[in-house]
Amino acid sequence: MNKEKYLTFALGKGRLAEHTIELMSKIGITCDEILDKKTRKLIFVDEVHRLKFFLAKGPDVPTYVEYGAADIGVVGKDTILEEARRAYEVLDLGFGKCRMCVCGPESAGALLKNHEMIRVATKYPVIARDYFYNVKHQTVDIIKLNGSVELGPLVGLSDVIVDIVETGSTLKENGLVVLEEVCPLSARMIVNQVSMQMESERINDLITRLKEVL
Ligand code: PRP
Repeated sequence: MNKEKYLTFALGKGRLAEHTIELMSKIGITCDEILDKKTRKLIFVDEVHRLKFFLAKGPDVPTYVEYGAADIGVVGKDTILEEARRAYEVLDLGFGKCRMCVCGPESAGALLKNHEMIRVATKYPVIARDYFYNVKHQTVDIIKLNGSVELGPLVGLSDVIVDIVETGSTLKENGLVVLEEVCPLSARMIVNQVSMQMESERINDLITRLKEVL
């Protein structure tokens, strides 16, 4: 009987997981069952390759990886920065490309240039704080929202927002523009620090094979 340890993957739910499964199938690892919307099963096992997969809310993926409940995680760079968990970021998977930006009405550009005390609405307070305090050296009031952040400047809650811009259509439809870019984003593979030592051969082999098909 194969007693090799299972390598466990935590995948961020949604498009990220779909892309990851597609990518894994290119290196001969299939786990389509995980994408079956009818199933209530939470953990999927590939006995042949001794792998386990589970889906988690994006922000929880780095938590599972830091504590070793998952050896490997796939999650957006935005989540990695925001959660600031201990894990090795080993691979840029290239999909889920978008940008973290400071956005607002065109007129708010002057507030950024003059380093005024402004209100910033965001789902990403850690990223926003780091950008304004450590990069721009601008003191701001950061207001945490949980979604539809573009509402901030529209209803007078904030002067600007820090949010993800992908196609730019949400901004455009609401009369907002990108004022500054904070950083580029995409899906990344992260690895538990102990697993990286203990299972280095299998994990490095996986990384090498993924790099070949990326
Ligand atoms: C994200 C993001 C923007 C939008 C950007 O929101 O927060 O609102 O997508 O995409 P676009 O540039 O292609 O228009 P999401 O759909 O995840 O929902 P949320 O606003 O509730 O977070």
